[in-house]
Amino acid sequence: MCGIIGYVGKQNAVPILLEGLARLEYRGYDSSGISVLNGKGNLHVIKKIGKLAELEKALSALHLRSKMGLGHTRWATHGQPSDLNAHPHTDCTGTLAVVHNGIIENFQELREELSEKGHRLVSQTDTEVIAHVLEEILKENSSVEKAFESLVKKLRGTYALGIMFKKDPQTLYAVRNGSPLVIGLGKRECFIASDVAPLLKRTRKVIYLKDHQWAMIRSDRCGVKNFSGQKIKSKVEHVSWRLEEAERGGFEKFMLKEIYEQPEILKNVWLGRMDLKKSDVRFGQEMLSSREARGIERLFIIGCGTAYYAGLCGKYILERYTGIPVEVDLASEFRYRTLKLSPGTAVLAVSQSGETADTLASIRRAKELGCRIISIVNVVGSTLTRESDAVIYTQAGPEISVASTKAYLTQLSAFYLLSVFWGRARGEMSLMEARHLLTELIKIPEKIQWVLDHQDPIKACARKYYSYRNWFYLGRGFNYPTALEGALKNKEVSYSHAEAYAAGEMKHGPIALIDRNFPVIAILSQGGVYEKMISNIKEIEARRGKIIAIANPNDKVVSKFVNDVIEVPETLEELSPLLNVIPLQLLAYYMALYRGCDIDRPRNLAKSVTVE
Ligand code: M6R
Repeated sequence: MCGIIGYVGKQNAVPILLEGLARLEYRGYDSSGISVLNGKGNLHVIKKIGKLAELEKALSALHLRSKMGLGHTRWATHGQPSDLNAHPHTDCTGTLAVVHNGIIENFQELREELSEKGHRLVSQTDTEVIAHVLEEILKENSSVEKAFESLVKKLRGTYALGIMFKKDPQTLYAVRNGSPLVIGLGKRECFIASDVAPLLKRTRKVIYLKDHQWAMIRSDRCGVKNFSGQKIKSKVEHVSWRLEEAERGGFEKFMLKEIYEQPEILKNVWLGRMDLKKSDVRFGQEMLSSREARGIERLFIIGCGTAYYAGLCGKYILERYTGIPVEVDLASEFRYRTLKLSPGTAVLAVSQSGETADTLASIRRAKELGCRIISIVNVVGSTLTRESDAVIYTQAGPEISVASTKAYLTQLSAFYLLSVFWGRARGEMSLMEARHLLTELIKIPEKIQWVLDHQDPIKACARKYYSYRNWFYLGRGFNYPTALEGALKNKEVSYSHAEAYAAGEMKHGPIALIDRNFPVIAILSQGGVYEKMISNIKEIEARRGKIIAIANPNDKVVSKFVNDVIEVPETLEELSPLLNVIPLQLLAYYMALYRGCDIDRPRNLAKSVTVE
């Protein structure tokens, strides 16, 4: 997830771009850059690693003036944060500049093709290939319009692009396929942006570019076409949001926005990695090899908080499909254990930030013990990525809310992909099994969307139960970690005391607490442990506990004895954690809302815990 801004009009573009980037910084902030045309009509590109202040510092000395320009704030997906990897990117001749949000899936093969033709690419990004592909196309075709038609045929993946040409100082181009892009229509000035947040101060009239459309934008007009070259009559809409609302995409809180982003983000995680035709998964950049997969005799998964729970679910997934014995530990415990590890032991660290102190200390310890370190991380360029031997990026984009939601879901997704890769490489997973899992996996985003679209029962439960101070969350097997994660969400954002148990453990003590003031969330989706769960929950019913079931729509049993049912679509038991966690995120969110809590910044917490 990155932020794009563009301007064409009568004013100096530089301060407008900088102001726009400041409003987009929440979309990514590891580096930023702008491209403008200087007084001599030359294309000027200035880019800096770090926060926007670094770019502002660099620009203040240059006194640039330009009536048109593009800006970008980056959230690295390919290549670490650096001046060179920052956007905009240019071609060999420096006659065009491109900014991009999304992922070009076939960038490696395009890069090789371009290198063979003599192009010199200077960054590690997927975006730079777009500039060079366009340069190559324009050698044979002088019409920009035709060039775009050829360009989009060559690119695979998702992209929102802003493009400008040195020879055309009054026209900005915008292209959309899978990543958002808005055109702002002002008085004799126009803008492009990743969302409306940077536009609101300047105009409320916008066109939302749709997928497979591109636009030619001048100060006084804007023409939209589809990828086949047909003119499109786009609707001009009026935005009434306040500025703060706009940064959150109209959502009241970042937590809710991030919950809603999940279906789209999951598709990004699959992109370029899942090969449905071959029923396989490939990891390009991640330095994971099939040979290595065959050599792993034992695996430790470590993490903290939500990342630890993702690891716990990862254990169930990997054990199911890869035959590798897995142990999961809290990073804060692992680092102090007395361990003798054999050479075949690998350590897999899970972390959104890649900066959590205990997780870093643990992998350093594991390295000393001779283990290879693999990590599942969201933030590209973070310390954990630099100290790991192999990294699987979760590609969730910046997570702003302290309570983790989309990071958890993408961490689980990484485990499913890894289980196919390792399972196939080790001969533990049949082709049929891989095909079945992947086919069901790609249906998950639309099933999550179904939960998001049918949340009235979740809101109703939140209203009914938000004043209860003690909770149990129960699950078994794959959904025991889901219960733990659900309880953590409740604790974090609504400050209730919520405990999670593997449901079979209740009778060994905790059931003593149950009475009519104790709501119990029971994860009762279909699968091998369903009947066992029913027996465990019956014991709660017998003690008059209030039961809220997370169950599948066709379940005729559960509704007969529980107090409330929240439905989630059916899927494979192995994949059900991806769906069951969504209502638990929403329930925690709405209960916190009704309790008047500061949801995005809960008391006593920090997003990244960099101290022991
Ligand atoms: O950045 P990390 O994933 O390493 O962070 C680990 C935990 O601090 C984090 O998951 C924390 O538990 C979240 N606030 C949970 O929502």
